[in-house]
Amino acid sequence: MQQKIKIRKARTNDVEMVYALATQLSRSVTIKKELLEKNFQKLVLDKNHQILIAEFENAIVGYLSGYLHLTIYANGKTAYVDEIVVNTNNRGTGVGKKLMLEFERISKTNDCVLISLATSKARGFYENLAYFSKAAYYKKYLH
Ligand SMILES: CC(C)(COP(=O)(O)OP(=O)(O)OC[C@H]1O[C@@H](n2cnc3c(N)ncnc32)[C@H](O)[C@@H]1OP(=O)(O)O)[C@@H](O)C(=O)NCCC(=O)NCCS
Repeated sequence: MQQKIKIRKARTNDVEMVYALATQLSRSVTIKKELLEKNFQKLVLDKNHQILIAEFENAIVGYLSGYLHLTIYANGKTAYVDEIVVNTNNRGTGVGKKLMLEFERISKTNDCVLISLATSKARGFYENLAYFSKAAYYKKYLH
């Protein structure tokens, strides 16, 4: 199956499927469709943002959303994975790994020093890809 999974850059008309997948991200997150529709085009067109789509047999089965940015602490650019979701029925078949490896390739090509991300439920997935835990993740809601 792995060879049949294609990874490509997102297009604006992927928004419906990305919405369907995003709702599988976490029960504690509510994705507002009208806001995603409003923001998706901006995200797709932003050259520092990468939305990658995984296709299997012409169906969208996963996506990764992340961005590349300059930092002071790393003496250059770093990349950050905001979210990655694989359709429930397609998990455990290598889709997530392919998305991450493509994001790594793009980040490397763009001279990023490292990739960081936050996770609570998918630690094993990232550790399998040689990511390690360095610090705790904090957040504060502003609205
Ligand atoms: C986490 C997620 C993206 C993984 O995608 P996936 O397509 O199921 O993962 P893959 O099949 O590519 O797995 C790659 C490897 O990681 C391992 N792996 C996957 N999920 C794992 C987990 N939760 N714990 C430990 N190992 C895991 C697989 O066994 C596989 O190992 P192998 O290469 O030795 O065979 C997917 O489970 C998902 O969408 N979860 C819900 C959303 C989510 O939690 N996203 C992450 C938010 S931070």
